[in-house]
Amino acid sequence: MYRTHTCGELNMQHAGKEVVLSGWVQRSRDLGGMTFIDLRDRYGITQLVFNMETDAPLCQEARKLGREFVIRASGEVRERSNKNLKIPTGEIEIEVKKLDVLNPSKLPPFTIEDDTDGGDELRMKYRYLDLRRNVMKNSLELRHRMAGEIRKYLDQQKFIEIETPVMIKSTPEGARDFVVPSRMNPGQFYALPQSPQIFKQLLMISGYDRYYQIVKCFRDEDLRADRQPEFTQVDCEMAFAGQEDVLNTFEGLAKHLFQKIKNISFNGPFPRITFQDAMERYGTDKPDIRFGMELFELTELTRGHGFPVFDDAEYVGGINAENCAGFSRKQIDNLIEYVKRPQIGAKGMVWVKWNEDGSVRSSVDKFYDEAALGKWIEKAGARKSDLLLILAGNRVDTQEALSELRLEMGRRLELVKDDEFAPLWVVDFPLLEWDEETKRFYAMHHPFTSPRPEDIPLLDNDPGAVCANAYDLVINGVEIGGGSVRIHDGKLQKKMFETLGFTYEQATEQFGFLTEAFAYGAPPHAGVAFGFDRWVAVFAGSDSIRDVIAFPKNNAGRDLMIDSPSALSAEQLSELRLKIEKQDPGK
Ligand code: AMO
Repeated sequence: MYRTHTCGELNMQHAGKEVVLSGWVQRSRDLGGMTFIDLRDRYGITQLVFNMETDAPLCQEARKLGREFVIRASGEVRERSNKNLKIPTGEIEIEVKKLDVLNPSKLPPFTIEDDTDGGDELRMKYRYLDLRRNVMKNSLELRHRMAGEIRKYLDQQKFIEIETPVMIKSTPEGARDFVVPSRMNPGQFYALPQSPQIFKQLLMISGYDRYYQIVKCFRDEDLRADRQPEFTQVDCEMAFAGQEDVLNTFEGLAKHLFQKIKNISFNGPFPRITFQDAMERYGTDKPDIRFGMELFELTELTRGHGFPVFDDAEYVGGINAENCAGFSRKQIDNLIEYVKRPQIGAKGMVWVKWNEDGSVRSSVDKFYDEAALGKWIEKAGARKSDLLLILAGNRVDTQEALSELRLEMGRRLELVKDDEFAPLWVVDFPLLEWDEETKRFYAMHHPFTSPRPEDIPLLDNDPGAVCANAYDLVINGVEIGGGSVRIHDGKLQKKMFETLGFTYEQATEQFGFLTEAFAYGAPPHAGVAFGFDRWVAVFAGSDSIRDVIAFPKNNAGRDLMIDSPSALSAEQLSELRLKIEKQDPGK
């Protein structure tokens, strides 16, 4: 028998009991005639004790154990003299009578402790060791519990989980596809799904009116802390349902998770904000509304004072940092450096201080007198002691830069508490986005998203102004999920493809099976997909989704542990009839 109990289970109630435990050696200490070993498994840590006086050979054996050895220990549970009340097993220890080394271990390349000395790369390479650490274990357990609660809730709501294929067909919209060559069909490729979008719509046509799936999705895009090339969605679709049905059902899911996992209840509905408002007020379509500091626009007020930066700008706007008029030159310079980083992209930053003593100072005193600055202050809703930070440029980029600056100020001023959660829905997204480079419209969400019925006439003469029945769930500034009402009318879908610049032939080639399916009685339907990794990371208080994925890839898309991607052998390539182009050594 390997164990009668786990290492997290024993307490004073078990005192006097003979037990067997198995696990890993966390650490060992020799104190005088005694050796103490912390034995660890998934459930916790239990102290083993060996006594030189009562059993010298066993104690000698124990002293030979290294970190991470796998052992089995049998002995008696007894009360500890030196109790550790921080852990559940801290009142007892095991007086070991028999010890077996089940497997020795090499010295691990980093310490398996909460505060490890291992850097990112090393921990990724030895991920199986990293996963032994408490933080990782807690994340994976949280992930498991959340998946369980999602299934419970959706099951109660009569959703059924249906798997969809992973080898599908490449479609030109969205991110780049990962592709898989087909040996049996030389020269042809499967694509891995960026999402099960088309399949879930087909399932609606098949009559499975409430579908969900916790499913892997694949996107070949630039990676960031909140993006992995393969990630998990909670993918959902409902038939005979519109936007309100989806928002209500999935607000229910979010509330269920908050309640069961975080023990937080929300009274009343989540706030809703339109895309347009979100951009104007927060400079982003995923606002963190845990703090205010909303953007204000100064474009008109700043014109005509001879300051070319503002005169020539499409948009001038700012944020009000309350009680920050006392910021030093150095603090302000530091913020200027921050907004000039390439990721933020501002060329500079103007500031206005309304000092405690009533005086107003600004970096553009030369162009704007106190009366002019007073108008800005009024527009900003500022009070004495406040500091305005102002950026200028084209509208969208400047709003985005202000959004970053707002978040940075939120961090510097510690305006957000870690255990606070602010969910909201962002609604009324534009249907289309214009791309200057290719001079065509792209679907902002995907080409199956329905325009708002009242906006359909605009598709002909002002497509850019059409709003979609599309929505995102945002929590603490993270886009957790997004979805839309779908087009279920073949004619409208055809029109949408035309607006996106597909010829009839291209549309039939790419999506012919879908348009064909629409001809066989497609019910009205709508859906949403949540980024499961992101949701878990937000609940775990993690900045990176890597922390909540057992085996993630690094920012270059590599799995450092299994060393993937990797080259194929000449035989494999020839079987697939593939030739690798010589790489330009200069690249
Ligand atoms: P969308 O593309 O918005 O919608 O994706 C849904 C959610 O998935 C998460 N997400 C990601 N998470 C980690 N890494 C990535 N690379 C990544 N990309 C997206 C985000 C996002 O909100 N089929 C539609 C949904 C629908 O219309 O029903 C879709 O995939 O949290």
